Amino acid sequence: MDASYSLMVHGGAGVLAAADDPERARRYLDSLHRVLEAGRLILLQGGASLDAAEHCVALLEDDPLFNAGRGSVLNEDGEIEMDAGLMDGRTLAAGAVGAVPRIANPIRLARRVLDAGDAVLLVGPGALRFAAECGIPEVARDDLVTFERQQEWTRVRGRKAGPSSPDPSRIESSGTVGAVARDLQGRLAAATSTGGRVNKPAGRVGDSPLIGAGLYADDASCAVSATGHGEELMRVLLAATIANAVAYRDLDAPAAMDFGVQILRNRVSGRGGAICVDRQGRCAAGHTTPRMPHGWIERGGEVHCRL
Ligand code: GLY
Repeated sequence: MDASYSLMVHGGAGVLAAADDPERARRYLDSLHRVLEAGRLILLQGGASLDAAEHCVALLEDDPLFNAGRGSVLNEDGEIEMDAGLMDGRTLAAGAVGAVPRIANPIRLARRVLDAGDAVLLVGPGALRFAAECGIPEVARDDLVTFERQQEWTRVRGRKAGPSSPDPSRIESSGTVGAVARDLQGRLAAATSTGGRVNKPAGRVGDSPLIGAGLYADDASCAVSATGHGEELMRVLLAATIANAVAYRDLDAPAAMDFGVQILRNRVSGRGGAICVDRQGRCAAGHTTPRMPHGWIERGGEVHCRL
């Protein structure tokens, strides 16, 4: 077994208007770079891939640039409801939360679900009760809602009222965040977190907390975090499709990623993408959307980031 670590993060598949604005583009790249270096520290010190993936996603949740944690999009009621999940490739243990409001770091709550081991996915009020039992405090709505997201929601609601307007929820960028890691012991982990789709129905849960759709990790194959239009990703089980291509077709991460992206495009005209680290530490990213900000450290090497 190759004793090196690998780490990838993404900031969501979508259109990313920011790519045309050099200042905003730099902020995305700087954020991804900073998060990768923070994750590297954990892995270099012999930390577990699960801890590194969770930490990277928590940092991305804290950054209002991304649609997760603070900076999440608003649903049809003008509220934030977030989804997050993580999976341990060593044990196949998983923890996830769906449609949770008022939690600063849903990925940390998902980790507590995983550690408790009694359920894989908790939603809504039950998830909040579990958070309270764990000592994770609820935060005020205004701690999570940013001015930009409030403006975006108002814009989208206005457009939705127009008879000839395209459905705005189908064209906004996703901004979901995710991380996949391989640690020095060859353990794999995946984590994904999101505010979902802007103006989504209240109570809607996307792919991000669903094992096999928005994430998957198995030390025998690879770790995957997916992003994009959740309903399309769910229909082709994007993360599991990529992982199964490694496990049962004996493909490496880049070939399995090509396979998964092809399935997403051909079967459901899906808008999304994914990142993947395989058991040998090879990194791959793919997307059908114009953009998917992401970055990687392959086998202990340099940080690379792309929009
Ligand atoms: N992929 C994020 C969502 O659709 O909720």
